[in-house]
Amino acid sequence: MRAIMIREPGGPENLEWTEVPDPVPGPGEVLLDVAASAVNRADLLQRQGHYPPPPGASEILGLECSGTIAELGEGVTGWQVGDEVCALLAGGGYAEKVAVPAVQLLPVPGEVKLLAAAGLPEVACTVWSNVVMHAGLGEGDVLLVHGGAGGIGTHAIQVGKALGATVAVTAGTGDRLERCRQLGADIVINYREQDFVAELRKEAGGADVILDNMGAKYLGKNVDALATGGRLVVIGMQGGVKGELNIGKLLTKRASIAATGLRGRPVEEKGEIVAAVREQLWPLVERGSVRPVIDQVVSLGKAADAHRRLEEGGVFGKVLLAVS
Ligand SMILES: NC(=O)c1ccc[n+]([C@@H]2O[C@H](COP(=O)([O-])OP(=O)(O)OC[C@H]3O[C@@H](n4cnc5c(N)ncnc54)[C@H](OP(=O)(O)O)[C@@H]3O)[C@@H](O)[C@H]2O)c1
Repeated sequence: MRAIMIREPGGPENLEWTEVPDPVPGPGEVLLDVAASAVNRADLLQRQGHYPPPPGASEILGLECSGTIAELGEGVTGWQVGDEVCALLAGGGYAEKVAVPAVQLLPVPGEVKLLAAAGLPEVACTVWSNVVMHAGLGEGDVLLVHGGAGGIGTHAIQVGKALGATVAVTAGTGDRLERCRQLGADIVINYREQDFVAELRKEAGGADVILDNMGAKYLGKNVDALATGGRLVVIGMQGGVKGELNIGKLLTKRASIAATGLRGRPVEEKGEIVAAVREQLWPLVERGSVRPVIDQVVSLGKAADAHRRLEEGGVFGKVLLAVS
């Protein structure tokens, strides 16, 4: 098969579309003919040599894909050759074929096209596991989503609204804020020009749940933005890894902070998340309350262009990589 390989750690020019051996599905796995993959911010770090795959995972980039089942490994039940699916991957998505544990498969939901489904597994599993399974977002809660215009953010807005929350977002320009509003965001905050803590307090009091991509840079401000009993979930470190925490403020608010990563979790845990997504989030996608948000489709052989696009900024939603 052909796949995108990293010639050496560095810039997008080091991504090479080349022949590699086909993957072989092990017990409990299926082989997919990939229709499309999608770019994640973690892929940029992996390309630069800063985010190696977890033990046992493919060296090939790509944390999600859509495609058709070509072969069932030993012991796989509940799926057939020819089924159209999308999949959460630990790696290997930037390729014509990928082997994936069957528990990480999801059916292509409702009216969603096979190609577009490639951009759903990573955002769906990340948002659902953090905002709902961990932080317990409920109807009437206030959800603050940092980076509302990104892949994760555009999905989190829709999930928050579908669950009956008031959704506030931060984004970098007025145009992006307006597009977040069109997706359902109730409160939009320009992080370049406005103080998100003051804006959130003015508009909604405080946040019951915060989904944070910034890490250290926003740690103190996020604690200030939490409501009593609020839950801060950190999933990104775009603003660094070491911050200062005022435990007194956390204690007074009886608030909590968690940080989670999806990729390194054992297959069983990913399977539990995928099962919850299928049971509870997929019905929202099937009835159109939550849709894939696609900025651009690039052919997989030109993955370097897609990486440049994400690095330049200004992507709204996801950039997909189509195989054909
Ligand atoms: N832990 C996990 O399991 C997990 C899983 C998936 C993703 N992630 C992480 O989640 C984050 C978002 O992923 P993604 O796929 O949505 O990436 P993305 O599409 O590249 O979006 C990144 C977003 O960061 C925003 N941003 C930049 N500076 C900001 C600031 N100072 N304040 C608020 N927002 C700011 C950008 O907003 P503008 O473009 O509007 O400036 C952009 O929308 C990344 O850090 C990614 O690594 C973690």
